[in-house]
Amino acid sequence: MIDSVGPAVTAFKAGDRVLISCVSACGKCEYCRKGMFSHCTTGGWILGNTIDGTQAEFVRTPHADTSLYPIPEGADEEALVMLSDILPTGFECGVLNGKVQPGATVAIVGAGPVGLAALLTAQFYSPAEIIMIDLDDNRLAVAKRFGATQTINSTDGKAVEALMKLTHNKGVDTAIEAVGVPATFELCEQIIAPGGIIANIGVHGVPVTLHLERLWDRNISITTRLVDTASTPMLLDVLGAHKIDPTLLITHRFKFDDILEAYETFGHAAKTKALKVLIEA
Ligand SMILES: NC(=O)c1ccc[n+]([C@@H]2O[C@H](COP(=O)([O-])OP(=O)(O)OC[C@H]3O[C@@H](n4cnc5c(N)ncnc54)[C@H](O)[C@@H]3O)[C@@H](O)[C@H]2O)c1
Repeated sequence: MIDSVGPAVTAFKAGDRVLISCVSACGKCEYCRKGMFSHCTTGGWILGNTIDGTQAEFVRTPHADTSLYPIPEGADEEALVMLSDILPTGFECGVLNGKVQPGATVAIVGAGPVGLAALLTAQFYSPAEIIMIDLDDNRLAVAKRFGATQTINSTDGKAVEALMKLTHNKGVDTAIEAVGVPATFELCEQIIAPGGIIANIGVHGVPVTLHLERLWDRNISITTRLVDTASTPMLLDVLGAHKIDPTLLITHRFKFDDILEAYETFGHAAKTKALKVLIEA
């Protein structure tokens, strides 16, 4: 809920209930005019990155008029928390960039909250197969409940063979990388079908080998993206129409005073089975 507004804010007033996007957009710069809000010259991904984030009692959100979304009457506020970041991330960087098509075969590598958000939103387009790959059986079981048609635990290092068997040696039309380590990007390189798209979501911290010696003749595309949150208004409508239920991603709830316990729980997700942890005021 808005406590107070600065003099430049015209679209919101104190008392309004709003969704805070993870990306701040001035709405005026060259990148904002293209809808590429993530590269706003005075905003972008700054909350929780270059300025303080939203895990606090009070938050100052820059460029409020063009970075906040009014919460529709009767909306499920817990579901809306998933719209600040992970839903638009999975959808824009994974599903839209990966051009998921009706009848297509999709692999999502990484069944964390972002991979699962890609799984939920990929189903807007009715792909024939969505194969989730992860090391964690619990997350793969969640993926099955969320609509994955097949799951592969890649702990044994044989994910490529398993996926090729499932796709009759063809590979996938879209491979969504939702982890951010070299092994998973290289896995996507190995499972992409001719003409396919590797849509990278993961934030990578070290170099990854691009196997052009294998890929040069395969007519593939590789995309990268920092989430723009340009799809947030559309996702709000989808949520309002009850077409997806992102509250399924919420596994734990903590009071603000117990935030350290929340970090502990989130930090040991494999043990605690945490996906998204909600902090309540
Ligand atoms: N591009 C963007 O704008 C953007 C925005 C938000 C998050 N991200 C990135 O998306 C990625 C996923 O985020 P998340 O919150 O879901 O992360 P997460 O750490 O919760 O989930 C990652 C999943 O990958 C699995 N995994 C790890 N190593 C693996 C391997 N070798 N093979 C198969 N699975 C493996 C883990 O078991 C886990 O389930 C991160 O890199 C995050 O930084 C990108």
